[in-house]
Amino acid sequence: KNPNPWSGRFTEPVDELVKRYTASVGFDRRLAHHDIRGSLAHARMLNSVGILSAEDLAAIERGMQTILAEIEAGTFPWSLDLEDVHLNIEKRLTELVGDAGKRLHTARSRNDQVATDVRLWLRDAIDLIQEEIKSLQRVLLELAERHADTVMPGFTHLQVAQPVTFGHHLLAYFEMLKRDAERLADCRRRVNRLPLGAAALAGTSFPIDRERVAQELGFDGLCENSLDAVSDRDFAVEFAACAALIMTHLSRLSEELILWMNPRFGFIELPDRFCTGSSIMPQKKNPDVPELARGKTARVTGHLVALLTLMKAQPLAYNKDNQEDKEPLFDAVDTVTDTLRVFREMLAGLKVNAERLRAAAREGYATATDLADYLVRKGVAFRDAHEAVARAVRFAEDQGADLAQLSLEELRQFCSHIDEDVYQVLTLEGSVASRRHAGGTAPEQVRLAVRKARESLG
Ligand code: ARG
Repeated sequence: KNPNPWSGRFTEPVDELVKRYTASVGFDRRLAHHDIRGSLAHARMLNSVGILSAEDLAAIERGMQTILAEIEAGTFPWSLDLEDVHLNIEKRLTELVGDAGKRLHTARSRNDQVATDVRLWLRDAIDLIQEEIKSLQRVLLELAERHADTVMPGFTHLQVAQPVTFGHHLLAYFEMLKRDAERLADCRRRVNRLPLGAAALAGTSFPIDRERVAQELGFDGLCENSLDAVSDRDFAVEFAACAALIMTHLSRLSEELILWMNPRFGFIELPDRFCTGSSIMPQKKNPDVPELARGKTARVTGHLVALLTLMKAQPLAYNKDNQEDKEPLFDAVDTVTDTLRVFREMLAGLKVNAERLRAAAREGYATATDLADYLVRKGVAFRDAHEAVARAVRFAEDQGADLAQLSLEELRQFCSHIDEDVYQVLTLEGSVASRRHAGGTAPEQVRLAVRKARESLG
């Protein structure tokens, strides 16, 4: 049995159920590497200001090496009796190096320790997610470039609206991910502040050097108020918001992939290795991966709400409630990382049926706006042009024909300004090529956007 470090104050041991209820070591052991990094920086600082002897520091450094090796080898004796990752490591250190281990916690509390660990951990996670975002963006750019000329129907209200290029459609997701990366970079600036030195809440009576610790751990600065340092979890909330938004973007793409894979659309094929069959219906090939990504978006959004709710009624400063920040945060990181990875692989194997895309763009009068714009260029006011084309569409619909299939005489019934040159604007290629301004769907713009995007990724 491992007695708690505070057992001196208590007349009976902690209830077994309470022990299980309050322990976090089952999940916060994930912080072990960062906990050790933080402890070493703290110990070196204590030594530099004359609080810890050189021998003690050397013993602590040696002990931590052993502990790292034990964790690596899976032989570290994790104990529920010791509540969390911090007490587990400190206890083991003391077993290994004796009194030096007991001196490590001078001028420190688990409150500033855990806040530091989580920030260090999250900073690494953010850097990893940034890399995953970039990899996915690169795959999107490849696909977009390959499909710069592939015409498809653009939708509003899920009804055919105007022709766009498939490359342009994919670049919309590139932009979403670009904003996600910007948001994460901004969030990282606030994650990357050092809480250590705040101790339990009021700071410490020892002459510590917080700047030195910050520098060694690569923090950009200090948490400036000790009460705020131990109780702030804004950074976790912000991260969860970024994560939920990334998932939301991938969920929208998931929804489209699922629709596009439906045989009624038949726009795409997902690689077999990203689909599953049915245990009863032999013909089935289901888009499980995008469906699950859509589903997992719910849990990440849930984590954001959980973290916000966790904070809303906490008085200053630290409260044990904060121990509940970890599971949502860890799971948000894992889910986003895995989803970005699986999307990168899945999209790299995407097969696009350009004929089906083109055929779908021809159904639904996608070039009606082009006809109205044509009439405007011939001097007709836009509202009148809109009205004339709407009537032409109704006529074509009754005939079961496309606008381009109507004869010149038929078209002229609706507006006398229509001439032979109208057929150029009624083609899908003419329509997309004409939208050649910055941010437009024209193939030349898509290629330009891909080039610019590649430069921005470096
Ligand atoms: N396991 C705790 C957490 O995750 C560490 C801090 C505990 N501090 C305390 N005073 N009980 O927040």
